[in-house]
Amino acid sequence: MNKLLVHGGTRLRGEIWASGSKNSSLPILAAVLLCDGTVTISNLPVLEDVITFKELLAALGVKVIAYDGGNLEVDPRCANSLTAPYELVRKMRASILVLGPMLTRYGQANVSFPGGCAIGSRPVDLHLRGMEAMGAKIEISDGYIRATCSNRLIGTRIALSSVSVGATENLMMAAVLADGTTILENAAREPEILDLANCLNRWGARISGAGTNRIIIEGVDKILGGGFEVMSDRIETGTYLAAAVATRGKMKISRTDPTILDAVLKKLAETGARIKFGNDWIEIDAENRRPRSVNVHTAPYPGFPTDMQAQLTAVNSIAEGIGIVEETIFENRLMQVQELNRMGANIAIAGNSAVVTGVDRLKGARVMASDLRASASLVIAGLVADGETLVEEIYHIDRGYEGIEEKLCSLGAKIKRVNQ
Ligand code: EPZ
Repeated sequence: MNKLLVHGGTRLRGEIWASGSKNSSLPILAAVLLCDGTVTISNLPVLEDVITFKELLAALGVKVIAYDGGNLEVDPRCANSLTAPYELVRKMRASILVLGPMLTRYGQANVSFPGGCAIGSRPVDLHLRGMEAMGAKIEISDGYIRATCSNRLIGTRIALSSVSVGATENLMMAAVLADGTTILENAAREPEILDLANCLNRWGARISGAGTNRIIIEGVDKILGGGFEVMSDRIETGTYLAAAVATRGKMKISRTDPTILDAVLKKLAETGARIKFGNDWIEIDAENRRPRSVNVHTAPYPGFPTDMQAQLTAVNSIAEGIGIVEETIFENRLMQVQELNRMGANIAIAGNSAVVTGVDRLKGARVMASDLRASASLVIAGLVADGETLVEEIYHIDRGYEGIEEKLCSLGAKIKRVNQ
């Protein structure tokens, strides 16, 4: 069933737990390819993207020993293919993250060129130039990135011309088995990068500085693998907190980490909601009040995350006042606006900004999801709209939100998956 039917008007109340982080799980799954031993990863979220990545590892010959949705045990020593095929890369752009591990482990990698997606052209030039700096030869032919290196990649200093999460992760993994030390300057600082570095160090790598803009990787001859528990999903957490604010509800989210959500919690507090937190939980209480509009400017971590922009646009659409939402990371990440306006929102786009004049009420409608986080913003809008909202193309949602209708129903929402 590929649609979500939401009946609006219920204040969310109750407690849920955060799932494992999608954006930490995917690079950690790629890092499996670096290991010379079995690997067990726990706290994986049950998401389409994680299942697709498992399929990609299997396509590369990695032996899947056990998988129960949350835990995966694999043996990468059986890997026997150097090609990440088009049909899997097309489904999930994050497949590009196998390039660095395969190249540094086997001296060769063929990865179908990841196309753009709804939110932008999503180039990978920073990934490729960095690997060339480490001695790789990169060719593009027949729609594939064909990377080779004569012996081992050579550790070197790489100054990234712009901040990129994926390029930082890919180059960090490539450097793990390189000959010598690599220094990544202007590295991305997202918490998922620190989680990946902690995982790689647990498995035998020598990485320091992850989480800062300068990461140092001392190449080693091999890493043996082992176990690792993926961090909680900060964007999933922020999404549910935003839904609580929009519906004027009260919610507690456990198994999460408030210390990696500063910019989001600060913004949600600006709406007037009261926020309390402990070491692994966050509680938000909108006190049944209409939120105040907030201005949002997305930026690399620790700035306000682009992955929370669409959700705050939805909150602003029914808030008191005018909120300006400026998207600075991706060139086309305001697509939720036209769908929100079809629900009665009053949003004007000026360049890469949305000027959101809050309205008293939204009206349920049939809406189309265009990408993962835009879909989430439409669900949030449906939760507060009068009447029913039918969100179509929800395969986007299933890529990033584990059991979204179960979690929302447990909070009192009227939402179900339908075919109609
Ligand atoms: C990661 O994507 C996340 N995905 C994205 O989350 C997130 O929005 C993004 O980082 C920014 O935080 C995963 O972790 C799997 P970037 P990534 O490289 O690595 C440009 C979600 O909703 N760029 O940091 O692809 C790029 O076009 C997803 O969960 C280059 O120009 O993002 C963009 O404008 C969506 N050349 C900017 O940098 C490159 O070689 C940031 O992209 C690479 C990127």
